[in-house]
Amino acid sequence: MQRMLETIVADNRALTRQGQVARYIPELARIDPTIVGIAVIDANGQLHLAGDTQVRFTLQSVSKVFALMLALEDQGFDGVFSRIGMEPTGDAFNSIVKLETFSSLRPLNPLINAGAITTSSLIAGNSVEERFQRLYEYIGAIAGPERISFNERVYHSEKATGDRNRAIGYFLRDIGAIEGDVEDALDLYFRQCSIETDVIGLATLGRRLALGPEADPPLDGEILRLALTFMYTCGMYNATGEFAVKVGIPAKSGVSGAIMAAVPGKQMGIGVIAPALDEKGNSKAGVQVLADLSRSLELAVFAVN
Ligand code: DON
Repeated sequence: MQRMLETIVADNRALTRQGQVARYIPELARIDPTIVGIAVIDANGQLHLAGDTQVRFTLQSVSKVFALMLALEDQGFDGVFSRIGMEPTGDAFNSIVKLETFSSLRPLNPLINAGAITTSSLIAGNSVEERFQRLYEYIGAIAGPERISFNERVYHSEKATGDRNRAIGYFLRDIGAIEGDVEDALDLYFRQCSIETDVIGLATLGRRLALGPEADPPLDGEILRLALTFMYTCGMYNATGEFAVKVGIPAKSGVSGAIMAAVPGKQMGIGVIAPALDEKGNSKAGVQVLADLSRSLELAVFAVN
């Protein structure tokens, strides 16, 4: 396994030159674009590392999976899906266009920005601080509290420049998807995107999703099923179909260049970081690293051989 991971990282490092780090959040533009690192935790709980595994990075959109899980715990299925749809979108992660043209006037799914900002508005708590603390502890209980931290600089950088998300937030309140304070919902969303971890934390999060409800910490089986289903159908934005064909496992990307993947049938979790992104906002080298790994280990969930 070790040698295979090192070969896959080496084979794909050149791809980082074909991507670009996210520039619309100024603080993210400072990351080294040549980084490629991977952590795999296998069925026995054994950790395998290759490439640049020391680097810390923010979860960005990977956090949307856990915000959804906590919102489902707080509000139940109907409480969440009366406001947010379940359909993939062929549009960019931060697109506004379907909000006005789609007849139901709901964000299409919980993993695009519009859906995720709505999801965050559904997390319970008396203040934005308390709601964020609950989400932070929820993610920390799964990743291991020592594996996560909060990146103030990325948070302030995104909060200061996040005009498109702010536009989405106010639009969501206008159509009734969000009730209450929009700035609070946005603030929680910007904070959750700025939770920081490393590839081991990411692989630990992914592996927990691949295990049943009884593993540590215990999680509702139906909520785990929903998280994995949305990752599979919506986790890579408008490249989700191609990712399902080429890689075939539930995964969630973030504009930091992180990808968290879970392989339910094999009790495996994978964390990849490679900050140079493709034009759809997914890690350029990270996607190919996962494609190579999936082919080598036959990880695709619909493999029938
Ligand atoms: O909302 C944003 O723009 C970012 N904080 C998160 C977006 C993101 O990670 C999209 N991922 N590919």
